[in-house]
Amino acid sequence: MRSMIPDYLDGALSDVGADDSGATAAYIPELAAADPDRLGAVFATIDGRVYGAGDIDVEFTIQSISKPFAYALALSDRGFEPVLAKVGVEPSGEAFNEISLEDGTGRPLNPMINAGAMTTHALTGPEGADPARRVERVIDGLSAFAGRRLRVDEATCTSEMQHAHRNLAIAHMLRSHEIFTEDPRGVVEGYLRQCSVLVTARDLAMMAATLANRGVNPLSGRRVVGERVVRQVLSVMATCGMYDAAGDWATQVGIPAKSGVAGGIIGALPGQIGIATFSPRLDMHGNSVRGVSLFERFSSDMGLHVM
Ligand code: DON
Repeated sequence: MRSMIPDYLDGALSDVGADDSGATAAYIPELAAADPDRLGAVFATIDGRVYGAGDIDVEFTIQSISKPFAYALALSDRGFEPVLAKVGVEPSGEAFNEISLEDGTGRPLNPMINAGAMTTHALTGPEGADPARRVERVIDGLSAFAGRRLRVDEATCTSEMQHAHRNLAIAHMLRSHEIFTEDPRGVVEGYLRQCSVLVTARDLAMMAATLANRGVNPLSGRRVVGERVVRQVLSVMATCGMYDAAGDWATQVGIPAKSGVAGGIIGALPGQIGIATFSPRLDMHGNSVRGVSLFERFSSDMGLHVM
């Protein structure tokens, strides 16, 4: 079966490759300028085998796929109770950049929308960590999930910061509700550095495989986070990972997943594999068009629906 995977992946890519609908993210010039025709898919098993096809070693920014991993780091660094007190676990059913603060308390509904992800970013590292220390913790943590040293794409980060008015507004709202007490600008800058980390589809599959392997990177053998943290993260991915398309995804794909606006999608099947796809054209929800098609196919062809 395993030796057939590369042929299977080649076939899947050539089928979905015919679809050129959707568009690269328009709200940040650096993302809008991405090559829209890139396409890749990777399976990484929990015993460290990697099967890929297409553009699997091309770097792009991780964007919102960083959110579940930063959430894992915050839960590890600060413990469940302090994190849950500040960020909920309820699906918002709204777009990723909605304000989505709970009535009265201002607590973001979940860590996958920007409000929750910025709060989560503020909760990484030791309490009282300065902005640079938080960023260092997040980049170290993402690198441990990937099993190699990752770096920030400065051009994307600068471009994002120049267009961060909405994120700055959300961060100031969070600060006004005392969801965090850190300087909002430092939180937004740190969160955007987190989003600007460069990865390949191969890296993303390995990061997903680390979740599937209950927190241990299959290649390095290193435990990155605990099992209870992974369970929490996968649950939130299952309900909130695909934003306002979370219900469609749950019924049609049924794999805990997360997408990013640079065109990546990851899925993690506990005890089995991590999957990653890369194709920059996005649908109206901000999810990769061909990535969603690939996951639908993988799920139905291999019976991967677990939700
Ligand atoms: O917060 C932002 O605007 C982005 N840099 C991250 C967005 C993202 O990937 C949303 N997901 N699909």
